[in-house]
Amino acid sequence: MRLGVNIDHIAYLRETRKINDPDPLEAIFIAKRSGASQITVHLREDRRHICEYDLSRIIESSFLPINVECSTNANIIKVVCELKPHRITIVPENRNEVTTEGGLLLQDSLLPVMERILHSDIDVALFIDPNEASIEKCLKFGEKLGLISKKSSKSSEMINTLSRSLGVELHTGKYANLSLMIESNLSRTHNSIKELELSRSKLASLLSFELNSLIYQSKQASNEGLLVFAGHGLNYHNVKPITNISYIEELNIGQSIIARSIFTGLENAIKDMIKIIKRD
Ligand code: PXP
Repeated sequence: MRLGVNIDHIAYLRETRKINDPDPLEAIFIAKRSGASQITVHLREDRRHICEYDLSRIIESSFLPINVECSTNANIIKVVCELKPHRITIVPENRNEVTTEGGLLLQDSLLPVMERILHSDIDVALFIDPNEASIEKCLKFGEKLGLISKKSSKSSEMINTLSRSLGVELHTGKYANLSLMIESNLSRTHNSIKELELSRSKLASLLSFELNSLIYQSKQASNEGLLVFAGHGLNYHNVKPITNISYIEELNIGQSIIARSIFTGLENAIKDMIKIIKRD
């Protein structure tokens, strides 16, 4: 399973002082030698962490593919398309949120944006909630854009005649929050998630529901020809059950890796994560 390391939080730390240290560019070289498969960054409309300056230096210097998360804002799409990352993952964005809160609202207005990205020779993925309606809508988008591989009539294998496919990144935030509330001491702190202050048995059944949705929806998506990724809130404790879902090809993980790197160094933090998620 591939690991995309999201390095936004390094730029976050820099922005707390408004100086030039730490430089997220340094992280891309450490990520490469630690065995990561991809660098992920989010160019937010408010530029609260990564900015164009970071993005252009990262894209020019990286040996790893770059996945840029961004909204459909026309100016942002123009900037990112001109910089030509490997992939653009379209995410919803709300200025007041601490981090990306939910999956995309899958409206037809996404289609011209996706076309614009594909015309720039950049792969496209959509960050979605793991539910049936979202997968169905993505399949419709994929068909309209000619990005769905058809199944062979003789076998269940995909005929891979397309040079590219539509990617979906399943939002694991709900799963991650439930796991934090049940398996860590978060509920005993000032950051306890109010709407999840429930009995442990209720939390356990919600957690199992979320995990089953991720399993079922990733299977549907993959069988129908979408590329399946996942991310948000994944950490060293909750990631294992997600790595057991064979339909998911890649995880994008940021906060927990950067948090651990404060104590262990970034190289060890990335290697520790890879040890957990690697498939033999
Ligand atoms: N994937 C997407 C689409 C995201 O928006 C984020 C957060 O920027 C992540 C993955 C990584 O989330 P985390 O920092 O919680 O690991």
